[in-house]
Amino acid sequence: MPLRIESICRTHRALLSDFQNPHASLVEYLKRYAVRHAEKDLLARTYLAIDDDAGTPQLAGYFSLATVSVERGAAARLPALDRLPRFPIPGVLLARLAVDSRVHGQGLGRYLFEEALGLTLQLAQTGPVAFRLLVTDALDTAAVRFYEHFGLAPLEENFPCRMALDLFPLLVGVAQPR
Ligand SMILES: CC(C)(COP(=O)(O)OP(=O)(O)OC[C@H]1O[C@@H](n2cnc3c(N)ncnc32)[C@H](O)[C@@H]1OP(=O)(O)O)[C@@H](O)C(=O)NCCC(=O)NCCS
Repeated sequence: MPLRIESICRTHRALLSDFQNPHASLVEYLKRYAVRHAEKDLLARTYLAIDDDAGTPQLAGYFSLATVSVERGAAARLPALDRLPRFPIPGVLLARLAVDSRVHGQGLGRYLFEEALGLTLQLAQTGPVAFRLLVTDALDTAAVRFYEHFGLAPLEENFPCRMALDLFPLLVGVAQPR
């Protein structure tokens, strides 16, 4: 399925109306808040995966990115982070990720996660800010298992379950900006 990723804006509204996912909160966010958060409130930026295969564009999935700060004590379960000085640890928050129910199990979740991670690493490598983590809040045990696939580890036990990926091993050796 050939997909393109686009940063959400008001011209996408018609594309959002048909999106289906078992998590009503992820559908509601997309339809009610995603454009507003990106364009007006500046709380999160949503990226759409659009499928042009059928002639008319279809929304296959989306993810949203924002920033986050993790209390140093909350990172104690991850040994590499437990050795850091006692300051909050900054990161990018993968605030939401969802695939349309009609195309689950076809690799789109992996595609969206890799796009989100790619944007995050690009910002860490070439942006003017430093941060250490990719963080997400998994909604249920299935989501925890999905994110564990990609190396994220739970920081909490309850749901939503905060999970994190230490970006250091992915960034080490890459030239830092001057
Ligand atoms: C979780 C979700 C995004 C997965 O999307 P998907 O397109 O069906 O997933 P993919 O087909 O890309 O699978 C990617 C990998 O994760 C694995 N995976 C997918 N769902 C999984 C689950 N529930 N448990 C364990 N592994 C899972 C797949 O086996 C696959 O592994 P592989 O690449 O090694 O074969 C999708 O089911 C969804 O939208 N769920 C509801 C929303 C949600 O929970 N979002 C995440 C938390 S906010």
